[in-house]
Amino acid sequence: MHIFKKIGTFVGTAAIICTYALSTHATSPRLIDDIIKERQQIMKNFASAGRQLNELISSDPASAIANLENLIISAKNLPSLFPEGSGNPPFSNAASPEIWKNWNDFNAATDVLITEMNKIVSLLKAGDTQSAQQQFGNMMRVGCGTCHSKFRLSKR
Ligand code: HEC
Repeated sequence: MHIFKKIGTFVGTAAIICTYALSTHATSPRLIDDIIKERQQIMKNFASAGRQLNELISSDPASAIANLENLIISAKNLPSLFPEGSGNPPFSNAASPEIWKNWNDFNAATDVLITEMNKIVSLLKAGDTQSAQQQFGNMMRVGCGTCHSKFRLSKR
């Protein structure tokens, strides 16, 4: 029994050390720069994918669904691209410090976007192109707008 306890403690300690090493690594300025670039690129993809989607919903619903499913994966990943300390200040980006003061709200805003995207997928799967088109407008306004109005600075 004793030896198992020791192994348990060792595994636990190793896990803590690994977590510590990762988190220390994650706060190094170089890596944060990369994370900021990555999330800004995802946002740009959202904007350009949005423009394409508007077309695809009526011309090629199957591709629209595939695109949306990829966008949903990116959206789920968003919170991980906003590590604490990566906002403005100290960086000159458009991420408001409010993000980390209201972390639960920020996550909820991500969920709003995912829900709005899923609604388009459901409508497309049901073959209701017209409602899907309308829902696309809601998704851009509500899904993107809910987060931007609270958490995106208008100036860098
Ligand atoms: C959960 C919050 C959130 C959601 C949802 C969200 N955004 Fe953003 N967006 C931000 C924040 C914060 C920034 C500023 C990031 C930075 O500067 O590092 C941003 C920046 C941007 C930018 C500027 C990127 C650049 O730096 O060039 C664009 C374009 C953009 N978002 C489009 C969208 C679109 C389109 C959607 C919806 C499909 C969307 N965003 C959904 C929070 C969000």
